[in-house]
Amino acid sequence: MKIKKVVVIGSGTMGSGIAAHLCNADIPVTLLDLKTEISEKARDRIYKSRPPLLIDKSKIDNIKVGNIKDNFDVVNDADWIVEAVVERIDIKHDIYEKIFKSRKQGAIVSSNTSSIPIKILSEKLTNEEKKDFCITHFFNPVRYMGLLEIVKNENNDLNKINSLKIFCEKELGKGAIVCNDTPGFLGNRVGVYAMQVAMTEAIRMKLTIEEADAVFGRPMGIPKTGVFGLYDLIGIDLMADVLKSFTKELPQNDPFHIVAKENPLIRKLIETGYTGRKGKGGFYRMNKMDNQKILEAIDLDTGKYLPSKKIDLKMDRIDINSLINRKDKFGDYAWSVISKIIQYASSLVPGITDKFNDIDEAMRLGFNWVMGPFEMLKEIGVSNFFERIDNFDNNKFLESLSKSKNENFYGNRQLYTEIETLGKIKPKAIKIDKNKSAEIYRFKDFNIVEFTTKANALDYDSMDALKNATDKPLIIINESMQFSAGVNLNYTMDFINQGDLKSVEKFIKYFQDTCRELKYSKYPVISAPSGLTLGGGFEVLVQSNFVASHTNIVIGLVETIVGLIPAGGGCKEMLWRWFQTDEAKTDPDYAPLKVFDIIGYAKTATSPIEAEPLKYLRPEDKKIMNRNSLLVISKKIVQDNQNFNPPSECQFNLSGKPLKDKMIKILEKLYNEKVIFDHGMLVGEELANVLSGGETTIDKTLSESDLYKLELEAFMRLISNRKTQNRIKHTLETGKPLVN
Ligand code: NAI
Repeated sequence: MKIKKVVVIGSGTMGSGIAAHLCNADIPVTLLDLKTEISEKARDRIYKSRPPLLIDKSKIDNIKVGNIKDNFDVVNDADWIVEAVVERIDIKHDIYEKIFKSRKQGAIVSSNTSSIPIKILSEKLTNEEKKDFCITHFFNPVRYMGLLEIVKNENNDLNKINSLKIFCEKELGKGAIVCNDTPGFLGNRVGVYAMQVAMTEAIRMKLTIEEADAVFGRPMGIPKTGVFGLYDLIGIDLMADVLKSFTKELPQNDPFHIVAKENPLIRKLIETGYTGRKGKGGFYRMNKMDNQKILEAIDLDTGKYLPSKKIDLKMDRIDINSLINRKDKFGDYAWSVISKIIQYASSLVPGITDKFNDIDEAMRLGFNWVMGPFEMLKEIGVSNFFERIDNFDNNKFLESLSKSKNENFYGNRQLYTEIETLGKIKPKAIKIDKNKSAEIYRFKDFNIVEFTTKANALDYDSMDALKNATDKPLIIINESMQFSAGVNLNYTMDFINQGDLKSVEKFIKYFQDTCRELKYSKYPVISAPSGLTLGGGFEVLVQSNFVASHTNIVIGLVETIVGLIPAGGGCKEMLWRWFQTDEAKTDPDYAPLKVFDIIGYAKTATSPIEAEPLKYLRPEDKKIMNRNSLLVISKKIVQDNQNFNPPSECQFNLSGKPLKDKMIKILEKLYNEKVIFDHGMLVGEELANVLSGGETTIDKTLSESDLYKLELEAFMRLISNRKTQNRIKHTLETGKPLVN
């Protein structure tokens, strides 16, 4: 079965997301809706979407649009027809009737439904038609969410389902899990239950919403939106609909009903238009007072908004055991929520799936959890878990585990895919070292470094791990959301607050030494990024010898936003890359001016396609749709470079003062136009000083060390400046830039 042409019917949130993602995979797709104007508007939305649904916006015209009346004949030669219309069975049935009259023999027809059982969707189809019909349940936003649930019916040709799965894995990069026809399938059944437990227990145990979100978040390996923040993001009204559909479908004795009862506060929020981020606000809202935006949080008792309070649990890392063993309300809440989620998820085995592993993977891919419920159970330890719970009637999984007490029940991860992923390799590899910021693994003839901090922010220990791992070919890769959001600013500010500039300087020097080692060590170094690859994270990547990049990256040098300049070799490497262009051969100032523009504006790219014109990535860097494949591709690079020779050192001829003057002219114009202010001017001047080569002239040749030195000096002057410190503090506190 080859899928070369696809038609998506229904151009709302999901239909447009699916069409955009097919376009990302270079598959011709037509988007149909009731009227062509609706699908045209959807195409506009795709173009303007943020974060962008398209990897390459210039391909937008590869998505054709039309309406189901005049353009239905496109279905005739489609290999796959995806239905993503409103969740109404009568409308869906009508559409299937039309599709099956027109589709070519053997073409796959699927629905994106999130709640209608396949049994009902397909009840009007003949057995022959059912063979080619399934549910393909994508998650929103389609480009970014890893999970695709494929739900089969009893008539399906399993070979076909399998080739659809492989297509979705290979071409669309999805983690495709085949599941049975049960309400909410795997991800939503457990994910929505988890959200409801987290919410109802917060209310019962009298936690504020900020407290609940602080627990049901990073320390549990759950995205920081927590539960109430996630409610706002999804839409409080949409969640109410989801709950209604679950309550309708699930048998009365399902524990889901206990946590899905209607809540008067939620009803009131919906009625008054507080439906979440898309509405006037939700559990959280931004309130404008005296021209200042203030984040407020709802009081669960009174329904009144109060200024939101930051909760610091003093837990920076994922640590389920420390969390549930805390002797305070946070520990009690965490245990109550986690134990209930484990009990619920395990009660569904083998009812909804006989592979508990698939439930965990659905939670990782569909809800971005670091661990699923079963891995949490493994973390807690089987004996410990059973010491704390006693009631698990009718739970076959727990009954059996309570008898065997098998601490090694978990086995391998990611069983849904054949691909040799990082998650599968880690248990087979030798962990040769571990510090508070990174882990080093040795697998066969290469090393792996995985960063382990929040957003993989970099510090001395991260560098230490990299430096110690260059005694073999090295792959820098990780399983968390971000490759690295850059240098850990908290870590740097701690030194500043103690007046310890020496330690900052020592760290930056060590950063530079490590990056030099990555670039020139005897063995190849490969960076395999996904997610944020910013600042220092980019500097690690740019000084690796090879790159295997996921197509979902946000990459760039963003230091100027916090009043700094790249000092780990970022300025130097960008200069070098731009010096390789034809234009730079005839104009010595071309490359520095380009880099001045890119770093000065802190430009970022949201895909490898956008990254290439900025030279954040090179044409030869690998670009990969399926994140699971990053390790395999990196391994192949290691194998193909058995006789690796490190690159030769770069040299620079920079114009010095006349070039710096040109750059300052640019800054003055921006200053006069009020695009930048006093400190922006100063940061720009420091950047200009580095990129023009400082006290040099065009006939002098500068080495990489000279450039590192210029970067370091500029960095130290800037970080010692109170206005840069204010910028950093502001960004750390609010997540937003300070313009000063
Ligand atoms: P939506 O309301 O954003 O879009 C539905 C689209 O269907 C609209 O553009 C509407 O004009 C069109 N439509 C209605 N009747 C039609 C017909 N007879 N022919 C052609 N087009 C028609 O809905 P959304 O959110 O995109 O949901 C679509 C499907 O995906 C539903 O089955 C939903 O359950 C499912 N789903 C939704 C998710 C979400 O997060 N929104 C997540 C996963 C699945």
